[in-house]
Amino acid sequence: MTRRALIAGNWKMNMLRADGEALAAALASGFAAGAAADLLVCPPATLIAPVATKLSGCAVAVGGQDCHMNESGAHTGDIAAAMIKDLGAGYVIVGHSERRADHGESDETVKAKAAAALAAGLTPIICVGETEAQRDAGEAETVVGNQIRGSVPEAAAEDTIVIAYEPVWAIGTGRTPTIDDIAAMHAHIRQVAGGVLGGADKLRLLYGGSVKPGNAVEILALEDVDGALVGGASLKAEDFLAIAAAAA
Ligand code: PGA
Repeated sequence: MTRRALIAGNWKMNMLRADGEALAAALASGFAAGAAADLLVCPPATLIAPVATKLSGCAVAVGGQDCHMNESGAHTGDIAAAMIKDLGAGYVIVGHSERRADHGESDETVKAKAAAALAAGLTPIICVGETEAQRDAGEAETVVGNQIRGSVPEAAAEDTIVIAYEPVWAIGTGRTPTIDDIAAMHAHIRQVAGGVLGGADKLRLLYGGSVKPGNAVEILALEDVDGALVGGASLKAEDFLAIAAAAA
């Protein structure tokens, strides 16, 4: 089964309008149509519209970093999936470990957000990953398996969602699991997700956590790794495009 790679950039809470537009423009001119991977940027909500405008007509997709679980209503400061879609986005990240930690998001919350994304016509990128203490205790596969069983909504199908494995201790630290550990975890995730979804041959599984141009080739070559969710290195067009090229 060949799955098309997805290289997703998570800009997090970075970039004002001028810098975001300049980055989007650099990606638009540097990313070749017909490339082997799909390219996606997830700017802060304030920049989805201007970034989508800069990227219109080119192959780079736009996504959000979070959405609310409800369609609309009295949720001051929150953003509905349909609002993100309305700005030209096709994807939304849900359950990033920074949301799980900073906002106390449970698997149940993440599942409801992913369901809201699907209902709005967005592809949710559902994030899972163990802490360092959980890995040290030998619990990584159990923790991640439980997160998948708890966070994937009933309405999901293997080709309507993306799952990103991001070990919490590898995010923004410059540290990554060994190649063997990434391979083992991704095989485990495909097996667990396959049980939940009734098949996972078409499911795209991204690795995230300190992906850089220097380690991307090795990580993206793994059979069960179908792309990357990139934080820090997605803020520089040159680095992000080099990671995309590594997916060839
Ligand atoms: P990083 O972040 O690439 O800066 O480690 C990845 C992420 O949090 O998605």
